[in-house]
Amino acid sequence: MKLLNLDHVAIAVHDLDRAIADYGRRYGVSPMHREVVEDQGVEEAMLPVGGSFVQLIAALRPDTPVGRFLARRGEGLHHIAYAVLDIVAALAHLEAEGARLVDEVPRIGGRGTRIAFVHPKGGNQTLVELVEYSL
Ligand code: CO
Repeated sequence: MKLLNLDHVAIAVHDLDRAIADYGRRYGVSPMHREVVEDQGVEEAMLPVGGSFVQLIAALRPDTPVGRFLARRGEGLHHIAYAVLDIVAALAHLEAEGARLVDEVPRIGGRGTRIAFVHPKGGNQTLVELVEYSL
């Protein structure tokens, strides 16, 4: 297991346009990429900061994981994402280490990446996402 990079920190927001505008005014960053990811029920905007991103995510519908998160806890930090070279090997390693996997096999994420989530329970109460970029 080797983490290549802190790929992004994801913040759940109610209103994506408004959050993007606020980030632009406050921090001088603007989206490099914006995409609806139906599989996850989100629209996401990637704001580059150094070699990493802030990912702003808004729910497409209330009955999605991020929609439920927003209803339960309001806006805030949702997950952190690490880039890995081989996501299948990383998941096998994490499973062997006793981590609880949300995704046992990778899914397609934004920007053509493969992603998988690791459950916060037993993982310092932090939802972790692994990201593998296509080479
Ligand atoms: Co993410």
